Amino acid sequence: MIFCKYSLKKLNTFNINVNASKVVKVKDLTQLCKLWKKYKQKKKPCLIIGEGSNVLFLKNFCGLVMINRIKGIYISESKKYWHLHINSGENWHKLVKFTIKHKIYGLENLALIPGRVGSAPIQNIGAYGSSIQNFCAYVDIINPINKNIKRINKEKCNFKYRDSIFQHSYKSYIIISVGLLLPKKWVPNLNYFNFKKLKNNININTTPKKIFNYVCNIRKKKIPYHKIYGNAGSFFKNPIISPKLGKKLLKMFSNMPYSLENNFFKLSAGWLINKCNFKGYIRKGVMVHSKQCLILLNRFNNASGMNILNLAIKIYNSVGKKFGIWLEPEVKIIDNYGEINPYIYFKKIKKLK
Ligand code: FAD
Ligand code: EPU
Repeated sequence: MIFCKYSLKKLNTFNINVNASKVVKVKDLTQLCKLWKKYKQKKKPCLIIGEGSNVLFLKNFCGLVMINRIKGIYISESKKYWHLHINSGENWHKLVKFTIKHKIYGLENLALIPGRVGSAPIQNIGAYGSSIQNFCAYVDIINPINKNIKRINKEKCNFKYRDSIFQHSYKSYIIISVGLLLPKKWVPNLNYFNFKKLKNNININTTPKKIFNYVCNIRKKKIPYHKIYGNAGSFFKNPIISPKLGKKLLKMFSNMPYSLENNFFKLSAGWLINKCNFKGYIRKGVMVHSKQCLILLNRFNNASGMNILNLAIKIYNSVGKKFGIWLEPEVKIIDNYGEINPYIYFKKIKKLK
């Protein structure tokens, strides 16, 4: 029998009440590798987390959960750039604030994204027309068993929308630091359509601080604070579909929001979910957020991971049946022994001929 007595409720933003056999806050690499090896030798699972803002725990975790608090921000400069080397346990939003305070600009569109720096390249965090891939120079990773460290330069990170090599080939490695390159000549990134207002109103007087405040304000309006209603931001990724299907849907729904990426249609998963009448829908304490259907809320903070997963599956099936689009979860699903393949639960329903 495995005793799981350490609560993870405050360590995941869905506020799921599960336990782990052991929870340790790690502050340096030596401690991290030593513990990792010790648990692996005992054939116990290990999981590293930052703030648990992109995970869904289904059950108690029968092993060691390490909370990454390896800190340090190092700044150097060249003629045209600021070079930042940041250890992976730093908080992302605090880093954004820190850069702006030190007149180092560029990260303002990515304000208020929860989580630690080490998790940011994994899904290539993005918001409001920007993503970490625009600034990332390299990612340093370690094999916690043999302590080999590798530097993965940006070109090798395979950054894509909500994806990178760290979800594939380097899954068994731990990210220890991230290098960012921020141009000294600041150019505002106002591409996101929500900035239209900002563009018209502020025009040439736009400053990084104004964008930072604007982003923080819309985020606070749209996304509930997770300590009040547990959530992990978007549960699914926005689907990218073929030009053929995109054009077909556009004929049927002329007001469908989309953007084009190399002729492929990037749709709003929130809009698709809304079209299936899920806005405000609540089942077993899990609610589809009425201001943003892509966000599932642990409405009373007493739902189980399975309750959340079941609603996500219901949504997945409804959207799949109505639109022929099978959503991909963004959130990582964790069971007793670690991350699982979400497609165990999310299965396409084949149409009967
Ligand atoms: P965790 O949830 O702790 O971990 C996520 C995964 O990464 C796990 O599999 C974990 O094992 C692994 N991991 C963590 N640290 C390491 C490491 N050092 N090395 C290797 N693996 C590691 N995301 C966006 O992109 N854009 C948004 O706008 C956005 N908004 C959000 C809003 C809210 C309210 C919430 C709750 C989430 C939002 N997210 C958003 C998702 C989340 O912020 C990101 O995925 C973030 O990068 C997760 O960071 P974390 O440290 O909490 O990761
Ligand atoms: N929309 C709806 N109904 C909804 C939600 C959205 O119709 O319920 C439509 C609206 O037309 C809206 C558009 O979709 O204008 C875009 O919505 P929003 O700006 O909220 O962005 P999103 O595409 O739903 C993505 C990211 C967010 C990120 C925002 C801001 C994904 C999966 N999500 O959401 O990231 O903060 O853009 O850039 O790409 C996260 O990853 O956890 C996350 C919160």
